[in-house]
Amino acid sequence: MRTRITELLGIEHPIIQGGMHYVGFAELAAAVSNAGGLGIITGLTQRTPEDLATEIARCREMTDKPFGVNLTFLPTVTAPDYPGYVRAILEGGVPVVETAGRNPEAVLPVLKGAGVKVIHKCTSVRHALKAQSIGCDAVSVDGFECGGHPGEDDVPNMILLPRAADELEIPFVASGGQADGRSLVASLAMGADGINMGTRFIATQEAPVHQRVKDAIVAASELDTRLVMRPLRNTERVMVNAAVEQLLEKERELGANLAFEDIIEQVAGVYPRIMIEGDMDAGAWSCGMVAGLIHDIPTCKELIDRIMAEAEEIICGRLTGMLAAPVA
Ligand SMILES: Cc1cc2nc3c(=O)[nH]c(=O)nc-3n(C[C@H](O)[C@H](O)[C@H](O)COP(=O)(O)O)c2cc1C
Repeated sequence: MRTRITELLGIEHPIIQGGMHYVGFAELAAAVSNAGGLGIITGLTQRTPEDLATEIARCREMTDKPFGVNLTFLPTVTAPDYPGYVRAILEGGVPVVETAGRNPEAVLPVLKGAGVKVIHKCTSVRHALKAQSIGCDAVSVDGFECGGHPGEDDVPNMILLPRAADELEIPFVASGGQADGRSLVASLAMGADGINMGTRFIATQEAPVHQRVKDAIVAASELDTRLVMRPLRNTERVMVNAAVEQLLEKERELGANLAFEDIIEQVAGVYPRIMIEGDMDAGAWSCGMVAGLIHDIPTCKELIDRIMAEAEEIICGRLTGMLAAPVA
C-alpha cells in the first residue's frame, strides 16, 4: 500500500509503533521495522544519551530498515538532557523522530537541519496545526480512546480524524484504538495516511515485556481502562488494577486539592516493576481501550501481514462488493 506516510518514511506498510516507556526497546522497534512498518525506540526509557546511543546501535544490528526514536517532553521536576538525546539520535543516523508532550519547537531546527523527519504526536486539531506551522513533517493524531495521555479535550477518533483531515495539509496517522485491518481502512477513509499503534504492539511475541503484561492485555475488555491524574491536567489512560483503584480513591477524597505527591507511590518509577518484573499491581501503566480488540500474541510480522491482508479484503471485497451489488 502506498500513502503519503509510506512515501515520507520509506516504509512498506503505513503502520507505526508509537514510543512506549519500558516497551519500546530495540527488539520491538527492529521487529516492527523488519515487518515493513516503522518501529520506534523510546528515548527517555534509556537513562542517559549514551544508553540511547547503545540502544540505537543494537537496533541497527537487528534491522537494516528505517526506525525512529521517540522524544517525550513531559512535565518533570528536572528536565532530561534533551540536547544529549538529540545528539545520540543524530550521531546514530536515525531518520525519524516521534515527538510528544510539549511543543517540539526547540529541537526542530537541529533535527530538520540533519534531514530527520519529525512526526509530532498530539491530541487536538489546534496542536496538530501548530505542529504543521512550525515545520513538522507529519503528525500522529491521538484520539480519546488512546493508551497513555489523551489530553484534556476528550474527542474520540471518529470526530478527531475527519476534523484533522479537514484542517491539515501535512500527512497524519491515526493513533488510539487501532488494532486491525478494520481500524486501518476506517482511518484511511477518515483522511489519515496510516495508523500508529501502542497497546496492540505490546501483545506481540517480540515486545520485550513480562508475559503477564501481554496476558493482561489479552484478558482485558474495552471496559478495563481508567483515566487517572485528571485533576492534575495530566490525564493518563491506564489499565485498571489495585494500585489504580487506590489512586482513584485518593483523587475522589482530595478533589481539587490533589497534588502529585499524593499519588507518587502509584505513578513514579513503576514501569520497570510492571514491564520487566511483571508485578502487575505495582502501579498505573498506560493501556488503551483497544485492549478489548486484542485476543492473541502474534509476531509483529504476523500482525502487520494480517492487518494488511484484512485491509485489502475490506477494500477490494466487502466495500467494492457493496458498490457493485446489483439492485434487486
Ligand atoms: C505502556 C505504554 C507506554 C507509553 N509510553 C509513551 C511514551 O513514553 N511516550 C509517548 O509519546 N507515548 C507513549 N505511549 C502512547 C503510545 O505511543 C501511543 O500513542 C498510544 O498507545 C496509542 O494508543 P493505543 O494504545 O490505543 O494504540 C505509551 C502507550 C502505552 C500503552
